[in-house]
Amino acid sequence: MPYDQAVSDIPVGRSARRIPILIDCDTGIDDSLALLYAVASPECELVAVTCSAGNVDARQVAENTRAILELVGRSDVEVAIGRETPLARALVTTPETHGPRGIGYAELPPARMPLSARFSSDLIVEEARRRPGELTLVTLAPLTNVALAVLREPELPRLLRRLVIMGGSYRSPGNTAPTTEWNVSVDPEAAKLVFEAWAPIGSAVAGSDVAGPVAFARPIALGLDVTERAKFLPEHLAALAARAGCAPDGSIAGGAASDMPGVNPVVRYLADALRFYMEFHSRYDHFYGAFIHDPLALATALDQTLVRTEAVTVDVELSGRLTTGETVADWRRVWGRPPNLDVAIEVEVARFMARFIERVGDLAAGLAG
Ligand code: BDR
Ligand code: CA
Repeated sequence: MPYDQAVSDIPVGRSARRIPILIDCDTGIDDSLALLYAVASPECELVAVTCSAGNVDARQVAENTRAILELVGRSDVEVAIGRETPLARALVTTPETHGPRGIGYAELPPARMPLSARFSSDLIVEEARRRPGELTLVTLAPLTNVALAVLREPELPRLLRRLVIMGGSYRSPGNTAPTTEWNVSVDPEAAKLVFEAWAPIGSAVAGSDVAGPVAFARPIALGLDVTERAKFLPEHLAALAARAGCAPDGSIAGGAASDMPGVNPVVRYLADALRFYMEFHSRYDHFYGAFIHDPLALATALDQTLVRTEAVTVDVELSGRLTTGETVADWRRVWGRPPNLDVAIEVEVARFMARFIERVGDLAAGLAG
């Protein structure tokens, strides 16, 4: 499908109910793209954003998150910070992947909007209690905040509509160690705690195949198995820029927007952030482009038909010599334990990419001038 073709196949009329979304992120280049996608999506009610340490330290995450929201005129969204270290380990960040400040080569004005007075995990619990069964929590970061939230409120799985996780690697190699994915490997204790908290005690709702009185849906987990199929390439950036009404000659595809006066501010941000991310992938993954893990998870939270999932029991390795942080999936059910995750195994990448380009391109176009 050509990138400039309209693909708004989710009708969202004025009266349609929007999907209330809470995002937990460690912004991060691909996290920032997920935030843009959320703001650009008419069916998304962005309830709040909680910040986790991960790609950069938690204070820088909160700075980046607010700066991005301000860039697109959403300083009304509550942004909270929480614990600044993983549950049981020292924080490791990844400047080589996302740049020293987490947004590649991009420069954004310092954030002006205030940080929430609420602690991230308190915010998650309070919002879930305020709207029981309504909120979808999308995690794009280590699971530290969610683990603390479920420790405070063990009913959290029942209070949320669904948990959608970007994290783990279930049938694919890792991206941090040979078998581990970044978000889980930064705070494996938190991931284990969350996966166990959502282990079914029994359920009669879709997304769980265990009979019993307790109803909550299994989390959807998008691991590298599917997120590494979402490769954002220079041609995608050129298509998005064209949709936003700039660089009709495709010159933006090189990614260097900061020296092009008059470029749309969202396109400028994307070009400068993605140039860094694409250089990283070219060094480590041997293609000039970028995996956009986090926007795919966010898009899936809004439209689950983008992926096909399989229910599986997953545990997290905490004491391996080579494998700490590995998400061990019991595909053959040798443990005899009920599945606790719906792991994404197939994804409609072209549909997702076209939708990303259309929506974020239109968001940028609407903010021009
Ligand atoms: C995850 O790690 C982070 O670097 C990305 O933002 C994404 O959430 C992919 O492994
Ligand atoms: Ca992330």
